[in-house]
Amino acid sequence: MDRKDFIASCGFVCLGAIPLGVLATSCSSSVYYAQHTRTKESALIPLSEFNDVQPDGTTTQRPFVVVTPEGQRYPIGVYVLANGTYSALLLRCTHRSCELQPQTTYLVCPCHGSEFTIHGKVQGPPALSDLQVFPVTVEGGNIAIRL
Ligand code: FES
Repeated sequence: MDRKDFIASCGFVCLGAIPLGVLATSCSSSVYYAQHTRTKESALIPLSEFNDVQPDGTTTQRPFVVVTPEGQRYPIGVYVLANGTYSALLLRCTHRSCELQPQTTYLVCPCHGSEFTIHGKVQGPPALSDLQVFPVTVEGGNIAIRL
């Protein structure tokens, strides 16, 4: 390989690395895996797990958290809804079972692009079915997800 070929090769490698770096950055998730307690029938998440303390000391509310209860094959995304209630969704795509990537206002499947609302309703193909939704209650400072 002569100098000219080497430089051309390096250029293509560098050009290829830029989109990968951007992709890695954009894929670096802001997913927060919440602490929780597993009971026989539920996963209990302290409400404080939704608090996100900023570097300046202020606290904001996380739009969602993720839990991985023991015995569950897929994680569960727990969203804060507009009316102050919560939705708990199995992060399993109803198309071909890939694990979903929760975003702030929707969920997306990395395999074929299906999208779901934070209520678990399918809103983009190829999936045709809604997500599994778990009953949620608020009990004594915890969100209880009945599994
Ligand atoms: S497995 Fe999710 S869109 Fe295909």
